[in-house]
Amino acid sequence: MSDRTVLLLSGPNLNLLGEREPEVYGSATLDDHVVGATAAAAARGIDLEHIQSNHEGELVDAIHAARGRCAGIVVNPGAFTHYAWAIHDALAAFDGPVVELHLSNPAAREPWRHTSVVAPVAAGTIAGFGAAGYRMAVDAVADLLDG
Ligand code: DQA
Repeated sequence: MSDRTVLLLSGPNLNLLGEREPEVYGSATLDDHVVGATAAAAARGIDLEHIQSNHEGELVDAIHAARGRCAGIVVNPGAFTHYAWAIHDALAAFDGPVVELHLSNPAAREPWRHTSVVAPVAAGTIAGFGAAGYRMAVDAVADLLDG
């Protein structure tokens, strides 16, 4: 297991960032966020891997593949946040720290976004800070790894 490899996992519709509801999610693309997160990770001596999928099972498979290989996970599960118990269970079977990340602040949006099934298996959640959240989430997971 690499003690300095972190998986950044992006859920459904995040591949459309930049085009999708820019008034909510901003104008930066997912690639822009990954570049920022990768730089923040490098500054902390962390090697960041990124996977995006629109499919719940692929995200579950990516979490399984991180077991014993990655030290931590930063996950923006998109709408799966609110109901995908298979992602909850996969994260529960991962040994390292998990940081939940959202560009927007789901708690300030529609009531159906107020529930997170990921939050109970995350060390903490960063939400509502837009692009800066990627840096904050990487720093949070690095802090947890550094004790
Ligand atoms: C999101 C918030 C979710 O409610 C939504 O379904 C998304 C993006 C965010 O980053 O703000 O797809 O995870």
